[in-house]
Amino acid sequence: MRFIVTENYEEMSYIAAQETAKFIRENPKLVLGLSTGGTPLGTYQELIKLHEKEKLDFSQVVTFNLDEYIGLEPNHPQSYTRYTWDNFLSKVNIQKQNVHIPPGIFNDDKQVLKEYDQKMLEAGGIDVQVLGVGGNGHIGFNEPSELLNSHTHIASLTDKTIKDNARFFSNIEEVPRKAIAMGVGSILKAKHIIFIANGSEKADAVKKTFNGRITTDCPSSLLQLHANLTVILDKKAAKLLN
Ligand code: PGA
Repeated sequence: MRFIVTENYEEMSYIAAQETAKFIRENPKLVLGLSTGGTPLGTYQELIKLHEKEKLDFSQVVTFNLDEYIGLEPNHPQSYTRYTWDNFLSKVNIQKQNVHIPPGIFNDDKQVLKEYDQKMLEAGGIDVQVLGVGGNGHIGFNEPSELLNSHTHIASLTDKTIKDNARFFSNIEEVPRKAIAMGVGSILKAKHIIFIANGSEKADAVKKTFNGRITTDCPSSLLQLHANLTVILDKKAAKLLN
């Protein structure tokens, strides 16, 4: 486990992008796991800059998103499909057929879940996962619970997550209550994880992730078991770490 503590969000984002770019240069066919939300926005902006200025090549990169809200059309302003294309993928030379994001609208849930895991398996699993953390220790939408899912599943958002994510919607009622989420098994099987967190509101979750005991009540604490974890935090998120 490698810890990097930065002065601020911008530096965290810059370093996370440099780390990701290093993996892409080493392996142009990298299978890259993508997260959404506020945290990785700066990382994606830096990766776009690297594409524009240094010709970082995404033409063979394959991506898998962690999750998608159930009930949102792909072009809904708050869908993670839209987020990922608008904030990142439409601005680099990725091939559409290499992008995998679970659907928010579907008929046969069992089929959708099975297919997503199958596609990940066929791609050889995630090489590098960019991962944020929820204020409650969730990773993706793997929320604190007595039992966690290893595979892609339908996740119910906790009240805390619904409240946290309401800032992206016009009101809290609009936040979907369910999502399709990659399981902790798939996340932990990623060959390398780049964990990013910023701001004081994440300090407690970061402490529980790395200084606490391993518990499904804090799904991110399972990351302590991962052999190739790069943790990049701004100093506010790192302030409670021992
Ligand atoms: P945030 O969400 O980046 O919007 O704080 C992080 C997460 O829930 O993984």
